[in-house]
Amino acid sequence: MPRAYDLHMTSASTSAVVIYESLTGNTKTAGEMIAAELTAAGVPAVACSTKQVALQQLSEANLVIVGSWTDGLFLFGQKPGGIGRLSKLPVIDGKKAAVYCTYALETGKTLEKLAGVVGRRGGDVIGGAAIRRDRMEEGVTDFVDRLLGAIDNGALESNAPAAELRS
Ligand SMILES: Cc1cc2nc3c(=O)[nH]c(=O)nc-3n(C[C@H](O)[C@H](O)[C@H](O)COP(=O)(O)O)c2cc1C
Repeated sequence: MPRAYDLHMTSASTSAVVIYESLTGNTKTAGEMIAAELTAAGVPAVACSTKQVALQQLSEANLVIVGSWTDGLFLFGQKPGGIGRLSKLPVIDGKKAAVYCTYALETGKTLEKLAGVVGRRGGDVIGGAAIRRDRMEEGVTDFVDRLLGAIDNGALESNAPAAELRS
């Protein structure tokens, strides 16, 4: 099958929702940038807060991206901020998911913990990114490039293997 046809089929059938947990706005900003870059690349995406999840778009999306801030003692004990709310997100059984966290210095196991939370809501996590708060643009662009590459490579197909988490 010609590649152009593949790409057309992919973009026509793919949409994403970014759900962010944000205290001072960085993770919200990153989430809105991720949604805007995905949309500009042909994957319609919306960003919403954990406090007001876009349920209609979530039910239609085949990629769910969940973001949080890094909460810890800066050099150890890190975990996703707002983990209580993240643990109560709507169930997304069978949907492909990706995670990101924003941070200042060091993320520890934040991404892995966030992937665990999303997995327990039924998401099939295909990857993730740690985005440093003072390097937001390059972090977001790199993450979106990897997501688009994964989409082109069929990572959203139901039987695609999960990728390693990378930051
Ligand atoms: C209470 C608190 C604890 C934090 N702990 C860490 C940490 O352990 N490691 C780190 O790199 N950043 C830490 N940060 C920084 C935030 O993770 C970072 O600023 C993040 O981008 C904030 O996202 P937000 O603006 O969406 O809330 C901490 C921030 C706060 C308020």
